[in-house]
Amino acid sequence: MDLSQHKIEIVLGAAEIAQLEQGDPASAGLAVTVNELEPSAPISKAIVQSASILCLEVHAGVPRSLGRIGELRAEYPNLPIVALVRDADVALVRSLLRQGVNDVVDLPLSLRKLTESIGEILGSVASRPASVERRSGKLIAVVKSIGGVGATNVAVNLAASLGEQRPTCLFDLDIQFGSAATYLGAQSEPSLRDLLEGGARVDGDFLKAVASEGPGSLRFVPAPSDIQPIEAVDGTQIRRIIRTARGEFDYVVTDLPANWTNWTLALVAEADIVLLVVTLSIASLRQGKRQIQLLRSQGIDPARIHVLINRVEQRLFKTIGPEDAAKALGHPVDLSIHNDYPLVNGANNQGVLLADLGKRSKVARDYAKIAETVTTLVEQA
Ligand SMILES: Nc1ncnc2c1ncn2[C@@H]1O[C@H](COP(=O)(O)OP(=O)(O)OP(=O)(O)O)[C@@H](O)[C@H]1O
Ligand SMILES: [Mg+2]
Repeated sequence: MDLSQHKIEIVLGAAEIAQLEQGDPASAGLAVTVNELEPSAPISKAIVQSASILCLEVHAGVPRSLGRIGELRAEYPNLPIVALVRDADVALVRSLLRQGVNDVVDLPLSLRKLTESIGEILGSVASRPASVERRSGKLIAVVKSIGGVGATNVAVNLAASLGEQRPTCLFDLDIQFGSAATYLGAQSEPSLRDLLEGGARVDGDFLKAVASEGPGSLRFVPAPSDIQPIEAVDGTQIRRIIRTARGEFDYVVTDLPANWTNWTLALVAEADIVLLVVTLSIASLRQGKRQIQLLRSQGIDPARIHVLINRVEQRLFKTIGPEDAAKALGHPVDLSIHNDYPLVNGANNQGVLLADLGKRSKVARDYAKIAETVTTLVEQA
């Protein structure tokens, strides 16, 4: 794509201009003008009207800088806007995306990231017929209180059930300990690594080429086969991957690592619903409570957080029951799955779905019910 025919107006305060990376934007094929304007100053019509894309500094500590975005969006609904932000936290990124910015790029500004972002925005604008609304698939983030509670089983079996009804893609984002491919009996290549390395080339076709065929019509992206630090994952790239997936599929299900980093928090912040998997052990409930508190502190609406208790025993004399769990978590519990280790473990080892191995089992019926509930919940979210 020839980017040089598009005029990019960059608006930055003096402090950020001083930090600009040395380099010639023209050599990267960009027609760029840098305008010096403090984050609180109003933006002149002349700048906006000459821009094909406006890249605007947003400063978390300057409310007026955020206000400028809302005003611009209201006045110029179709103008592509890139927010340039230093040390963006999840709440800010989320609020910017809600206000309709097309992308968020980190400051100090790097020419590579800017070129990627602009190429992607122009590509998606060009490929979108003006009259057709782009699909925005529902994002379901599966998280766990502690390791081993059964989150991957939930992600895999839920995604497979959803996939029977509508186009669904499962992402194993448990970068270091991903086991979804094993449970699905699927190949582990190509993987998320290909998408992470694909940069701005990641679009619907690229994604569909990487996502392997799962059972039924489920598509699946395995975790990278070699272990890499979760902090090494580029948050902007993950956002691009998930945004692309939401443009292609009705449901996008992600299995997330137990540890939080910036990109995992940003992802749950964008999710339609977060499924928190717990078991009825003291350690799991204690940690589950902390997870809920953390999610809430990130500005995630508690109504989007749904607790799923896995491995519920039917005992005559209960030790801890679902009601106690809700009390311990300080959050309602709306979903549960029976305990059936031989069946679940057998399915995992053979790489088959629970619905295929134990069609009439309680666990398979629980999963069918969960899929039904989740489809209702995401519509309400
Ligand atoms: N409903 C269930 N009944 C009995 N055992 C279960 C059930 N669900 C999961 N398990 C067992 O729990 C173990 C962990 O499951 P799984 O890998 O899905 O958990 P996880 O939370 O993703 O773990 P990790 O932290 O390793 O990613 C497996 O041995 C699995 O067989
Ligand atoms: Mg797992």
